[in-house]
Amino acid sequence: MSLTGRELILGVTGSIAAYKAVYLLRELTALGAAVSVCLTEHAAAFVGPLTFRTLSGRPVLTNLFDPQSPEAVEHVALAERAHAILVAPATANLLAKAAHGIADDFLTTLLLAARSPVLIAPAMDGGMWAHPAVVENVATLRARGVTVLEPEAGPLASGLSGQGRFPEVPTIVAALLGALAPVRDLAGEHVLVTAGPTREPIDPVRYISNRSSGKMGYSLAAAALRRGARVTLVSGPTALTPPAGAVFVPVQTAEEMREAVLHHLASATIVIKAAAVADYRVRHVAPAKIKGKRDLALELTPNPDILAEVAARRTGAFVVGFAAETHDVAVHARAKLESKGIDALVANDVSQQGIGFEAEENEVLLLDRWGGTHALPRMAKTAVADAILGHIVALRAAAGKKTPA
Ligand code: PMT
Repeated sequence: MSLTGRELILGVTGSIAAYKAVYLLRELTALGAAVSVCLTEHAAAFVGPLTFRTLSGRPVLTNLFDPQSPEAVEHVALAERAHAILVAPATANLLAKAAHGIADDFLTTLLLAARSPVLIAPAMDGGMWAHPAVVENVATLRARGVTVLEPEAGPLASGLSGQGRFPEVPTIVAALLGALAPVRDLAGEHVLVTAGPTREPIDPVRYISNRSSGKMGYSLAAAALRRGARVTLVSGPTALTPPAGAVFVPVQTAEEMREAVLHHLASATIVIKAAAVADYRVRHVAPAKIKGKRDLALELTPNPDILAEVAARRTGAFVVGFAAETHDVAVHARAKLESKGIDALVANDVSQQGIGFEAEENEVLLLDRWGGTHALPRMAKTAVADAILGHIVALRAAAGKKTPA
């Protein structure tokens, strides 16, 4: 594990945990990172700039308007150069400013200019962490792709106990390494992703469908592209723009999706089926718009199970399904994984507010055919997508060494 060659910005804000940022800085530099420390005015009241300057070997950024400081006018270039910006510890005030795009000091201005992953490690009183305003700000930041770590539970500086403690240095470093992950680990792969809903026509103007927005599948396609893969995205109708670089195959119905998926299957090395395929279609689609106000019975017939067919027909591709569940998620997901004969399955509880269909975030369980189950915390779908791909890469690498459970 090394951070050699990495340019980092460490933002420190006015929390008593600011002294722990000194240990964090030492660890980051020991791993080889070049770290520019940015102190807010209140942070400097807890730990002086000299400590950070000595340990980082660089000037400490404090005042956006200091005419003596070349960095002050270069804050945009500095943010662009950084491989990651890490704010640790972050106060409730910093979270609020970052969530609302306020840029009234060096650190918040850097955050607005950021082009690289941003990680925030909050530390505050437990009651503050649970305050609806803070909860909302954290959700806003996560939805934008910022990694906000969970503070740890335990005794707090206030003398009280609760969830608000600065995360341990190894936890922060691990999150940073994850965010910086190299990320050409899918170079040479062909990743076939399905996304969105299908539409099953009733007549020329009406259809049966579901609430899938496509966000989960499109995030997977974008993340696979970033990691170097060739990507084919087969998508039902959504309002999203396909990620640049993906071969985009728009479809309407489950039958069209099946045809497109089978067409691209031969060259795929990884198949991920995030689409919410309609289980049924109307047996007799009306050729003209149905008129009248009388009762109407639609006869439905099951759609083909594309995922099971892919699993049966593949020649070496690693096949990953999704499962939208509303209760006993792990049990139903395990049964689905086994019945479809796939390698791994991503299960989400779509009865929960704020995750699953349409939401910006998701919280998933990853199950694999070797008996493994791995829970991911609630995160932006972009981050969930990256974590899923990382997990697939690790599972495939280990697959040769395992026999199915
Ligand atoms: O699109 P978003 O708004 O971002 O929402 C994301 C999501 C909730 C749609 C996504 O996370 C998700 O759970 N996708 C799968 C939804 C679903 O259809 O689940 P299922 O349990 O009904 O199906 C299981 C698996 O079989 C899925 O991989 C599905 O693509 C596949 N399937 C289902 C039916 C069918 N006829 N053919 C299939 O291939």
